[in-house]
Amino acid sequence: MPNSTTPPDWVVLKFGGGLITVKDKLMTARQQVIDALAGAIAIIQAAGRSPIVVHGAGSFGHIKAKRWRLHEGRIHGWAPESTDGEGIISQDEACVSVHRDMLTLNTRVVESLGQVGLVTSVHPPRDWANGTGPEFTGEFQDFLHGEIDTIPVFFGDVVHCLDNDFGILSGDDIVLRLAMELEGVSAVVFCLGGAQGLLSAPPDDTDSELVPLWSPDMPLHGHHDKAIDVTGGIALKAARAGRIAEVVEDVWFVSGEHPNRVVEAALGGEPSGTRIVPAASRPLD
Ligand code: IPE
Repeated sequence: MPNSTTPPDWVVLKFGGGLITVKDKLMTARQQVIDALAGAIAIIQAAGRSPIVVHGAGSFGHIKAKRWRLHEGRIHGWAPESTDGEGIISQDEACVSVHRDMLTLNTRVVESLGQVGLVTSVHPPRDWANGTGPEFTGEFQDFLHGEIDTIPVFFGDVVHCLDNDFGILSGDDIVLRLAMELEGVSAVVFCLGGAQGLLSAPPDDTDSELVPLWSPDMPLHGHHDKAIDVTGGIALKAARAGRIAEVVEDVWFVSGEHPNRVVEAALGGEPSGTRIVPAASRPLD
């Protein structure tokens, strides 16, 4: 358990939407995976760290957001040709619907954490964040000074935007800002679904191997399902992770289907996965 007399040793964990949901099946959670991750968080907290959980959307966010082009903001006078019988007739209704769906997924995560005895506080970005990308505005720091053993939970969401009314704030950008702005973050762990880490070649290539160490000046081959994703997929995560590695010692991409690797990465170990380090400083021309 974290000790109330010493400053928190934060560990930020992102549960990717492709890990905790079946990405192409509308609103389908992977409950066993979520439960196993909750067990990992309990071990991390018992080891004296203060976890912060940020989760993605997967099929609780991307599918409707894509159909209703919520990531592009308001498009006046537009509606999709087919609405798939979901009873939504405008982008505004789609925003409300995705908000509801994200709370449904969040409840699954929070209940799972509760079942292993963890106390959480949930902070839906729609209530405090404005804008998308790493420069979004919002005072999330206010939520991080509660009870020492309360685990703050955030998630990617539909948020207000000044210029085009609404947009999609990725959980990856929340992770970046937490890592950059909080004092005492010792580890950031991106928990992936369907991958052991970053790969040396596109995933369908038979030569594709796990890259154990990656920095932003190295090439990246990842799968980004543009047909589904409204945020940047693995390329966005890798770019964010590279920036985080400039200020945080242990930054990892690991398979979230192996909770022991999540624990190891969070506690300063060397799990199977990809360690992210800052870009090597290049000599001046
Ligand atoms: C996306 O958040 C949020 C919505 C689509 C509403 P993320 O970018 O964090 O989600 P994943 O991890 O890619 O699913």
